[in-house]
Amino acid sequence: MGKGDSRWFVHDRFGMFIHWGLYALPARHEWVKHVEEIPDEKYDIYFKHFNPDLFDPAQWAKTAKQAGMKYVVITTKHHEGFCLWDSAYTDYKATNTPAKRDLIREFVDAFRAEGLKIGFYYSLIDWHHPHFTIDSVHPLRNHPEREKLNSSRDMSKYREYLHNQVRELLTNYGKIDILWCDFSYPAGPGRPAGWVGKGRQDWDSENLVKMIRSIQPHILINNRLDLENEWDFLTPEQIDVPEALTVDGKPVVWEACHTFSGSWGYHRDQATWKSVDVLVRMLIDIVSKGGNLLLNVGPTARGEFDARATERLAGIGEWMKRHSRSIYGCTRAPEGFIPPKDCRLTYNPETNRLYVHIFAWPYVFLPIKGFEDRIEYAQFLHDGSEVFVRKIDYPYVRTKNTEDKITMTSFILPVVKPDVCVPVIEVFLKK
Ligand code: GLC
Repeated sequence: MGKGDSRWFVHDRFGMFIHWGLYALPARHEWVKHVEEIPDEKYDIYFKHFNPDLFDPAQWAKTAKQAGMKYVVITTKHHEGFCLWDSAYTDYKATNTPAKRDLIREFVDAFRAEGLKIGFYYSLIDWHHPHFTIDSVHPLRNHPEREKLNSSRDMSKYREYLHNQVRELLTNYGKIDILWCDFSYPAGPGRPAGWVGKGRQDWDSENLVKMIRSIQPHILINNRLDLENEWDFLTPEQIDVPEALTVDGKPVVWEACHTFSGSWGYHRDQATWKSVDVLVRMLIDIVSKGGNLLLNVGPTARGEFDARATERLAGIGEWMKRHSRSIYGCTRAPEGFIPPKDCRLTYNPETNRLYVHIFAWPYVFLPIKGFEDRIEYAQFLHDGSEVFVRKIDYPYVRTKNTEDKITMTSFILPVVKPDVCVPVIEVFLKK
């Protein structure tokens, strides 16, 4: 495990996920072909009408950068099988739609120009390829002639296609920093009876990984290829990770991925959008546990980030502009440092600074435990103003006697919360 170069990754902490494909047209989830069991003949209507005339990757890249994101992962192909690049191995690609061009090429150029690192998401699953056998998640899973249809499908042909496409993506677009393969679902414990899934044999994951590393040795590969050890980072999805992730007791590299609203692809009628406040806390919380956040945007069929996404990204960027020092290069606080009440801690080992993120604004005193003797100087990050650290007597908390008091080192805060969604105290620690 951990063969790729993850140094930049654990420093940068914050990336943009982009789910974009034909599913932007139905605009009711990227799994629409599965959910509604849509056959190819019907789904083709979206291919015919895919025309993102407002696609402006330079604008996307600027928006990502302004939000404080340092890398990007885009769906070159999602489960529907449609390819955004000009693949030599299929006609089911953007060049044959009204878009008429290689959208990945333009995308890569634009994001690189803004200095973001590039990741490719590649769906192992393919609901369009004629040799991808019909399994328990395929849109044709309930087709009355499923067995008959499968008898003419040859998974080894799909496997070859998959390997060819991955090779193509890693050969024709320069340095690729991440390959995000998605996903495996083999039969096994926890699956319903009669489950037909796919895993490492179906993809020939071992040789796939060898090939990937031989072309781009530095590349980071996620953990969805159904291999025990051949991955660089874990990918918890849409969950509030409760603690730093470890394998065999040792900390590992991990990246949580999240949506704004529950759908990855553009979903017009989804209303459960998270607020800027929730998203900023999410980023902080993840970094306080030593992880990365990959936050997803689903561009529209016309090729834009919709207003809800743009508003969230701008809000995050507003916070990041003054607080990114508590995110980039940061990780878990040293052993024994206890987060004050309602706070999250991050720590930059290189600068030896600790960051106290205050999630709920306290009343004036914020007692410190575990690092009270280590503080050289403290200031708010948003304006660089000094925050006093004092030994505070808390009298009358035990008995009637003023001498019988508790004394605790505390931050002394203004009564009024600073006007930022999550205020941060930057603590310069003594050596
Ligand atoms: C999932 C889904 C999906 C999404 C992804 C992101 O497993 O199949 O639609 O692309 O993971 O993590």
